[in-house]
Order: sequence, then structure tokens, then C-alpha cells
Amino acid sequence: NSLKSHSRGALIVLEGLDRCGKTSQASRLVSFLTGLGHAVEMWRFPDRTTVVGKMISSYLSNRSHLDDRAIHLLFSANRWEKRSLMEDKLRCGTTLIVDRYSYSGVAFSSAKELDFLWCKTPEKGLLAPDLVVYLDISPEKAAERGGYGGERYEQLEFQKKVAQSYHKLFDASWKIVDATLPIEEIEEQLRDVALDCLVTCQKGKSLSQLWS
Ligand code: TYD
Repeated sequence: NSLKSHSRGALIVLEGLDRCGKTSQASRLVSFLTGLGHAVEMWRFPDRTTVVGKMISSYLSNRSHLDDRAIHLLFSANRWEKRSLMEDKLRCGTTLIVDRYSYSGVAFSSAKELDFLWCKTPEKGLLAPDLVVYLDISPEKAAERGGYGGERYEQLEFQKKVAQSYHKLFDASWKIVDATLPIEEIEEQLRDVALDCLVTCQKGKSLSQLWS
């Protein structure tokens, strides 16, 4: 309908520890919204397809070593290189369901004892999500799920620190979902908040910038 074609899409971000179930929930949500006739794309960060993304991928699989600040800035650059495409898509009415974003950037790097505010700075000016969903699971439970793929950050002690960093980022607007609920129940909760969010954006909520 005419409202849909003239309104912008929503920027919806899923965050959480490794193995919290973000990726499967993101794809379920995309299928659901697409089925309702919305224009929707699934995105993820790091986007390993770009030149910067390939450097990140090599670092994560322990094929290269980088200074903690250097890799932090690469993760951020990986988002900056997609920023204008992101804005174009949203303005043209496409909703983006994004698996990890700046919050991962800050949570994972500050878990290495980098200064929290320093970690936030390069993210300033990226597009602010309309909705952040945090799939909440304890580091111990996530580790029990197995399937830690052996990438650099997939270790219990480190994930405990990441969880603490995420808690510092929480704000009242985040939707915190218990990631240990049955998959269908989580899916249902995500559908509800995502639809609310889409309506708010269609009604003219403007795009804003992160942490500025
Ligand atoms: P991801 O590709 O989501 O992991 P998976 O292989 O489990 O699907 O993310 C890879 C890792 O990168 C993950 O441990 C989180 C970390 N990360 C950062 O450290 N900084 C960032 O900015 C992002 C987006 C991810």
C-alpha cells in the first residue's frame, strides 16, 4: 500500500553472547516479516565479504594477530563501509535485521580491558537502531550448548567478561529476551516487538545517529 512504499524501513539489531541463538532468530524474523509483505534483508557484522571483513575473519580464526585497538577499529570500519548503503536501504523502505552491531564492538573490545568510552567513540555517527533485542543467556549455559567453533573469542572466561560489558550498555529501550526459552516463544516475542517497531518507523520516526 502507499503508506508502506513511502515510509522508511526499520533498523533492528540482535545482540548477545556467542551461541545465544541470534542468527537463527534473525532468519526466522526475516522470513516472518517477508511473509507479511515487508521488504526485509538480513545483515550481519562483521560483514566478512569486504576487504576489511576478510582481515577481521583472518584475525578471528587466529590466522593473523593484530593489536587490540587495531582490530577494534577494523570492526568499526567494517560498519562504516556499509553505512551509506544501510541508510539508502532504510530510506527506500527496506527493514534491516542485523545480527550484531556497535554494541558487539564495544562489548567484546572492552572485555579486553580497553577503555569503555574509547571503544564507543569510533561508533559515533553510525545509524542508531530503532530496536535492540538482547538474547539473554548466561555464559555457562551458552558454553553448554556446544558448537563453539574455536574462533578467538569463543571461550567461557572471555564470554563472562563480554556479558559484563553488555550489561553496561543496556538501556531502557532494549528488549531483553530470555534466550533459554523454547525457540518458538522467543520467535513470538521478537515478532511482536519487531512489528511495533515497524509501525513506529512507518509513522514517521526519524533516523538518528549513535552516541552523538
Ligand atoms: P559472528 O560472525 O557473529 O560470530 P559467529 O561466527 O559465531 O556467527 O562474530 C564473530 C565474533 O566477532 C564474535 O565473537 C563477536 C565478535 N565481534 C567483535 O569483537 N566486534 C564487533 O564489532 C563485532 C560485530 C563482532
